[in-house]
This record gives sequence, C-alpha cells and structure tokens, in this order.
Amino acid sequence: MKINTVILGNSAGILKKDFLDQSVDLIYADPPFGTQADQVNTERQSSRKLEYSDKWATKEDYLNYLRPILLECKRVLKETGAIFLHCDWRMSHHIRVLMDDIFGEKISEMKLSGLTNAGRTILKLCKSCIKLFIIMRLLQNIR
Ligand SMILES: C[S@@+](CC[C@H](N)C(=O)[O-])C[C@H]1O[C@@H](n2cnc3c(N)ncnc32)[C@H](O)[C@@H]1O
Repeated sequence: MKINTVILGNSAGILKKDFLDQSVDLIYADPPFGTQADQVNTERQSSRKLEYSDKWATKEDYLNYLRPILLECKRVLKETGAIFLHCDWRMSHHIRVLMDDIFGEKISEMKLSGLTNAGRTILKLCKSCIKLFIIMRLLQNIR
C-alpha cells in the first residue's frame, strides 16, 4: 500500500485485498449514519453532488453491512493502533455493542458537542495515549 493514496471502492474489499495483518496505525471511519434517507453531499471545491443511499430494511441490515468492514479493521490494525468511528445518535449505541463484540469491550465514546449541531459521536479504541492526544488536537483544529 502506497502512502498518501486515496482508493475509491468498497472498504472491506480493499482492506482484504491490499492490507496486511496488523499493518495500520490509525483508522478513521465515517460510514453512513443510518439516517433512512438518500443522502446528497455537495463537494466544497467543485459543487459536484455526491449521492449515496443510507436506507436500511432493519437495524440488523445496517449492522450486517458494518460488521465485515469492522472485522477487516480489526485484522489490519496494529497491536498499538487506534480506531475512531464517526457516527451519530441513531446507531451509536448499536455500533458500540458491535465494536465491543469485535474489539473486546475496549471501546469508549467522545461526544462531539460544538463540532456540529447533529449530536455526533466518535467511538474509539485507542491503545496509545500519544495517538489519542494527536487526534484530539486535530479535532480542536477543525473547530
Ligand atoms: C457519512 S458519509 C461520509 C461523508 C464524508 N466523510 C464526507 O465528508 O463527505 C458515508 C460515506 O461512505 C461511503 N460508503 C458507504 N459504504 C461504503 C463502503 N462499504 N466502502 C467505502 N465507502 C462507503 C458513502 O458513499 C458515503 O460517501
């Protein structure tokens, strides 16, 4: 895997194909939030519309989509690595249970009050305090 590269595609498939076991220091995941709506984001520079469906038949349907991605994240994450998963109030409690199941009840939560107006949450598993400090500083800089 080359550094400074953006790969377009299915995250679980790309992780499986291109990433070795325990090769990643930091994962930041921003999956669909389970809004039950068709989402349209506007790219800042070009005003291009980016669309994706965030509609799910059931909660299990959504979690079944997320599980293989998180299993791949666990496989590629180094023993010293950290994962941050951005979600919101709709699914955060269910994702927390799923991540506890996959990563072993080491997940904790940061509420992103003030960063957005949408009650956003980041679930994190962080084996290195130094990396946690860095990401907190990055988030502070976004504000
Ligand atoms: C909550 S949005 C994140 C928006 C993005 N962070 C941004 O600022 O524009 C979720 C994004 O994940 C993408 N996505 C959904 N499932 C995916 C998958 N299995 N692999 C890769 N991307 C996926 C969607 O197309 C959508 O762009």
